[in-house]
Amino acid sequence: MKSIFLTGFMGSGKTTIGKLLSEKLSLPVIDTDHVIEEKLNKTIRDIFETEGENKFREYEHQFLEMMPTENMIITTGGGIILRKENRDWMKKNGVVVYLHCEPEEILNRLAGDQTRPLLDGDKKKNVLSIFTERSPFYHEADFKVDTTNKTPEEVVLEIEQLI
Ligand code: S3P
Repeated sequence: MKSIFLTGFMGSGKTTIGKLLSEKLSLPVIDTDHVIEEKLNKTIRDIFETEGENKFREYEHQFLEMMPTENMIITTGGGIILRKENRDWMKKNGVVVYLHCEPEEILNRLAGDQTRPLLDGDKKKNVLSIFTERSPFYHEADFKVDTTNKTPEEVVLEIEQLI
């Protein structure tokens, strides 16, 4: 089967859902951020701080296009959809599932999180503005599943019924 790309905002549950879906479908899971961190031997925060966001987006794009397009669950960084070429590539080469989550719930889930440089400072303001800006891009996915107030098991069941 075609690979499944899980997209969605930071804190939407991509990692958790990816792992569970991987178990349910007996397919391996790979995370684009982890690949970047391993290949560069740097954390995402380090990359943002020393090389800047634009360079990070370059790495993200390069590594995305190296992902297997068959029999793999691929969890992506929340900003992968910023580039049209990434959105188009994922749709062409796989099934794209957007994990939606309401911003209020995202803020609850990410309270205390220090690993996302884009949310430094006024977290609420940043989540709301980035969320609004990206929403149309997330909606280009093949399928949308709302994860707000749902258990990972419920979300995975919905994905299994859709794909
Ligand atoms: C980002 C999301 C992060 C990571 C980086 C940038 C974004 O991944 O790629 O901090 O632009 O939304 P997660 O969505 O896994 O948090």
